[in-house]
Amino acid sequence: MKTMKHQLFRKKDITTLLQDSLQEKGGLKRTLTTGHLVALGIGAIIGTGIFVLTGTAAANYAGPALTISFIISALGCAMAGLCYAEFASMIPVAGSAYSYSYSTLGEFFAWFIGWDLILEYLFTAGTVAVGWSGYFVSFLDDFGIHIPQNLRMAPFDHTSADGWFTTGSIINFPAMFIVAIMSVLLIRGISQSATLNNIIVVVKVVVILLFIGFGLSYIDTSNWSPYIPQNTGEFGHFGWSGIFRGAAVIFFAYIGFDAVSTTAQEAKDPQKDMPKGILISLLVCTILYIAVTAVLTGITHYSELSVPAPIALAIDKGGEGLHWLRMPIKIGAIAGLSSVILVMMLAQSRIFYTISRDGLLPKFFSKVHTRFNTPHNSTIVTSIAVGLIAGLLPINILGELVSIGTLMAFTLVCISIVILRKTRPDVNRPFKTPWVPLVPILGALICLSQMVALPLDTWLRLIIWMLIGFVIYFAYGIKHSKLNKK
Ligand code: ALA
Repeated sequence: MKTMKHQLFRKKDITTLLQDSLQEKGGLKRTLTTGHLVALGIGAIIGTGIFVLTGTAAANYAGPALTISFIISALGCAMAGLCYAEFASMIPVAGSAYSYSYSTLGEFFAWFIGWDLILEYLFTAGTVAVGWSGYFVSFLDDFGIHIPQNLRMAPFDHTSADGWFTTGSIINFPAMFIVAIMSVLLIRGISQSATLNNIIVVVKVVVILLFIGFGLSYIDTSNWSPYIPQNTGEFGHFGWSGIFRGAAVIFFAYIGFDAVSTTAQEAKDPQKDMPKGILISLLVCTILYIAVTAVLTGITHYSELSVPAPIALAIDKGGEGLHWLRMPIKIGAIAGLSSVILVMMLAQSRIFYTISRDGLLPKFFSKVHTRFNTPHNSTIVTSIAVGLIAGLLPINILGELVSIGTLMAFTLVCISIVILRKTRPDVNRPFKTPWVPLVPILGALICLSQMVALPLDTWLRLIIWMLIGFVIYFAYGIKHSKLNKK
């Protein structure tokens, strides 16, 4: 019993962790600059959240006051982001929250959070691939190229009214196609992937700025009043409770800044650049999101926005002068969603790589390709899993599962900062989270309250996922952990 307790709570020493990562031979290459890291953050953040979810959240929950929801959600993310930045500068190794908790909370929690990150990255990549497929199919339709109906969507769907039902389709082919393309890129090399990501980020940011800049003059301010529509009598539908429900829903739009920290082992100067990468990308996206939401709800009355492509709708409603923006917006969305898939798959393969190096997953996952210097086996397994998720599952099941998993990771990272300040005050912290323990505790509370707002079946799915993780840990990880040998 004593040994089992020892095994579950054994920790990796931070100094050893740092030395291992510096001395590693034949491992990952350090090629990423601050610019790359900020672009990776923006690449992972701006996606389905702004191109799809804004409309639904404004129409159903918050109205024009969705701008306030974006601010609330950003506050929780900023606090978690500051904690991530401290960790990423202090322990700049691949593996993100998994590695941080291995040295603070012990092996069992580390595995728990690593398994949770797998949920976040695999399922985000899958969800966004389904969103990508929707935009791509409609883009091709515009040119008279029609993908057959039975290859456009998942074979099953689920709604709260009807439960599970079959759609008559066989597979979501375009979603699987984009996952395959991204995996080839990721295997070929991180700097190629990062360069492509930079180009895509420029395209999507320019498109969003065009929408904000040209949309401004089409705003009808009467659409903003009342700014906070009156509550319908039901919790979460307009009024202040609606603003909070809106914040929990659009939290998905911010997911991704944490993915930057999984590439710490490939950054040129991680201690300086990681905090910059995380915080600048988060700030840029928050400003863009608030501006887009203000313009969107200014051009179109919020009650009309519950559509799959709300920005395209606003362009149609705005008047002739805006119509030229339709095609650029579609191209921006297709490009933008591609980079989210790319960065999420990148992050996922690095998590497999790191866990496997610690012995908690088979060695197969940490093999690095001799020519391309990338963890190719991890990337291939990631691609197969994401491809199956994207090809077979409907989007509405996936989104909430991703949010709950990510919120749990953020909460644990915030708590770990407080623990590590007490247990290892001696470790060099190039970046320090301000006002500890206030900021991490508030961050954890905001994240926890958003978890509580999510429906019961999302919690059940999370519990099932975690149980599978426990089985793998007790059947494999605990016996093969490298710490057994020490
Ligand atoms: N934040 C990413 C998106 O909105 C996951 O697509």
